[in-house]
Amino acid sequence: MGYGIRRATPEDAEVLSALAARTFTETFGHLYPDEDLQGFLAESYAVERSRIVLAHPDYAIWLLELDGVAVGHAAAGPCGLPREDVRPGDGELKRLYLLKQHQNSGWGSRLFETALQWLERDGPRTLWIGVWSENFGAQRFYARYGFEKVGEYEFPVGRIRDREFILRRQPR
Ligand SMILES: CC(C)(COP(=O)(O)OP(=O)(O)OC[C@H]1O[C@@H](n2cnc3c(N)ncnc32)[C@H](O)[C@@H]1OP(=O)(O)O)[C@@H](O)C(=O)NCCC(=O)NCCS
Repeated sequence: MGYGIRRATPEDAEVLSALAARTFTETFGHLYPDEDLQGFLAESYAVERSRIVLAHPDYAIWLLELDGVAVGHAAAGPCGLPREDVRPGDGELKRLYLLKQHQNSGWGSRLFETALQWLERDGPRTLWIGVWSENFGAQRFYARYGFEKVGEYEFPVGRIRDREFILRRQPR
């Protein structure tokens, strides 16, 4: 079977929550005291929350699978970043994560392109992404698709406040 990408459904809520918690921990877990991390994961990646988002028509989530086992995911929807110039109709890439052993082989690009196509399904529009200020690999990745830094904000994980960059791509 190999790798494949498919749109996730509410039936994938448990798989998605488990994978999202695992990939977030792998990528950023070392930045936070365990108590803050566990509280954040329990709230942000709760199965019930995943089920609601998966059933919502304004959001879309995709799973990257290897032989039917989820190893990555992307999430997209309306822009919720704290900027006064975000307009209704603007889109946001909300998550893009692959398990470590599957990174750097082109599948993150394919997953991202799937999300971009969906975000622009009704035509070009302004797109946004929030990215950790020290995630240089991801910043390079998004820059290749034309996303530019336009601001910053603080992202709370428990008591910790992360410095995040806000990236934007104008319609083209
Ligand atoms: C970012 C990510 C989705 C890219 O997917 P991928 O399949 O690894 O990437 P591709 O093979 O398509 O492209 C390679 C590029 O991805 C980026 N990348 C690769 N590994 C990365 C990592 N561990 N963390 C962040 N970016 C990474 C780099 O820009 C790389 O190109 P370069 O180093 O030659 O400049 C994936 O690496 C990942 O899940 N990283 C960890 C989670 C993360 O940082 N997500 C972004 C949160 S905003």
